Amino acid sequence: MSDAFRLDNRVAVVTGACGKLGPIWVDALVEAGATVAALELPGATSSDAFNTVTARGGNRVRRFDCDITDRASIERAADAVAAQMGAPVILVNNAGIDQPPDSPAGRHPLHELPIDQFRRMVEVNLLGTFQVIQVFGERMAAGAGGSIINIGSLYASVSPDPHFYDHIAGNVPFIKSPAYGASKAGVVNLSKFFATHWADRGVRVNTLSPGGVLAGQDGQFKAKYGARVPLHRMAEADDLKGPLVFLASAASSYVTGHELRVDGGFTAW
Ligand SMILES: NC(=O)c1ccc[n+]([C@@H]2O[C@H](COP(=O)([O-])OP(=O)(O)OC[C@H]3O[C@@H](n4cnc5c(N)ncnc54)[C@H](O)[C@@H]3O)[C@@H](O)[C@H]2O)c1
Repeated sequence: MSDAFRLDNRVAVVTGACGKLGPIWVDALVEAGATVAALELPGATSSDAFNTVTARGGNRVRRFDCDITDRASIERAADAVAAQMGAPVILVNNAGIDQPPDSPAGRHPLHELPIDQFRRMVEVNLLGTFQVIQVFGERMAAGAGGSIINIGSLYASVSPDPHFYDHIAGNVPFIKSPAYGASKAGVVNLSKFFATHWADRGVRVNTLSPGGVLAGQDGQFKAKYGARVPLHRMAEADDLKGPLVFLASAASSYVTGHELRVDGGFTAW
């Protein structure tokens, strides 16, 4: 059965590859045998984690410029990937934006949240994902088919608890943007749409929704968050890799239109 999880000689694409989670997906795909096109905003700094993964992957990881809010940029990336690596059969729509508590965009009471901030989050998280599916997904559907994995979030299903952030100083209390969960809920539905429309064209489409992933959060946040998780902790890189490889590979050949929540049970109660 373990052969079903192998991705040898397959070309995979990961968007937003140079941030926190991107390198985890790239690493998982490389470990399973794939070669990976790592798409990232032109000029964006690579995280140390990405550099480490690239060094380990050798010539099986290659970076390409791609702004997922710009259709022409996506098409250029698709052409470059096809020419240099071959036709992708795995697409991980990972690029996304959130507004962390220390964001320079500042904090606003809900009734004064600038509509442009809301619009930008939808623009990247939902419309960007849609455009990447249009370009890369259509090529997969017209070719050998494959697997599309859209990265959602636990906040596609539940609202963030403001209590997690109430120890953070500031005149205006920090709240996670209402646009984040709304855009991710849209991604879950978008996955179902393409799962049904492209089932006959050999493309499976699923959502992988992580819970909060460990990345230097402060102790109070981790304690409050962990107390709400049935498995009592935030996610670590290795918690995410298996589910991604499962959805990318033949091991999930009868799974499409599904949201796989990798959240330690957060959304189960
Ligand atoms: N980190 C978490 O705990 C967590 C939990 C649940 C879901 N997620 C989701 O996982 C994905 C990755 O999150 P992360 O924590 O790695 O975030 P991150 O900010 O560290 O990385 C996101 C990457 O996307 C890129 N990006 C932003 N806008 C882009 C655009 N227009 N075109 C192309 N690339 C763009 C950024 O440059 C960055 O490298 C996101 O979709 C996020 O919503 C993260």
